[in-house]
Amino acid sequence: MRENRQNHLPKADQLLIWYKKNARSLPWRKTLDPYKIWVSEIMLQQTQVATVIPYWKRWMKQLPTIQAAAEASEDTILKLWEGLGYYSRARNLHKASKIIIRDHKGTFPRQFEQIKRLPGIGPYTCGAIDSIAFDQPSAILDGNVIRVLSRYFGVHGNPKQGKINQQLWKLSSGLVQSAEKCSAVSHHPCSDFNQALMELGALICRKSDPKCGICPWNSHCYAREHRLHNSLPNTGKRPETRKRTYLVFLVEQKGRLLVVKRPRNGINAGLWEFPNIESQSPSRNVTGSAVECLGIKPLSLEKLGVIRHSITKYRISSVYYKVKVDCFIKKTNDSMKWHLRYRLQDLAFTATHRKAYCLYL
Ligand code: ADE
Repeated sequence: MRENRQNHLPKADQLLIWYKKNARSLPWRKTLDPYKIWVSEIMLQQTQVATVIPYWKRWMKQLPTIQAAAEASEDTILKLWEGLGYYSRARNLHKASKIIIRDHKGTFPRQFEQIKRLPGIGPYTCGAIDSIAFDQPSAILDGNVIRVLSRYFGVHGNPKQGKINQQLWKLSSGLVQSAEKCSAVSHHPCSDFNQALMELGALICRKSDPKCGICPWNSHCYAREHRLHNSLPNTGKRPETRKRTYLVFLVEQKGRLLVVKRPRNGINAGLWEFPNIESQSPSRNVTGSAVECLGIKPLSLEKLGVIRHSITKYRISSVYYKVKVDCFIKKTNDSMKWHLRYRLQDLAFTATHRKAYCLYL
């Protein structure tokens, strides 16, 4: 970072004025209710705004208060989250709602330290809730903010590195503190300022093709001055990807489909899916895998198709088979059952298996 950059803080009021004119009208921006803002911030982690809007609205209709969220069943919570991914976010929201009822008389805590102790709330989410809902000068640092700050201040190091990360938090903190004094421009200057910083990253200071010409902070931006917007922030090398293949079996009998519930820990925990097994070798023995997975030899196996998707560094291919069987499979239990085909939408399903159902059945 150039030495003199930190001394040249961009003007908070300029950004607030820009935000007033240019902010998107998003449903969670029409409220200061910390519960509603909390849910939006959790949903927005790793998820696009456009995807979140219908989920957030559905959640608020069904669970309008912390009490309603705390009293909901885990199945209801997972169903409301179905398709958003990273389901531990939903389970933590549920857990935290119960804690708020038990320890805070059902009122969302106002103290930063108390907010930070709730499950699923890390430094970013804590800063976001504290600033957006309570107008406190608490810093935030997410992907959008990292991009804006790295470019404006010319931060060349990798933001994931401890020291660089601390430096960015400090810059973000200095900015929101400077915004606290801008009450002439906004009634909730810290709340609006942090949202404006995110909005600047989303609408103007975009990853590629940033709109520097209309940026309210373009006059002293390091990346603009040095034409470095393509190399800042310095995100380092992408982790290597790994391929994985799963064989998935759609077994139907008398209008019911065989479904299994994923274990309580790990990815997609607690969600339903079709019986499946990871295939270790490229020259796969599908019948053998079906026997291993289902416990009986199928009468026939018909390949239906392949769905590809990515989770973190994994590039996953799921190969779907329609399976005919002539007797009831194993003994079903709480985590494996025959479910009426026309009631499949009642279960919270993993996204790819839901897609497979729509495509193939
Ligand atoms: N991303 C994270 N938080 C956000 C918010 N409050 N508004 C828009 N995008 C966001």
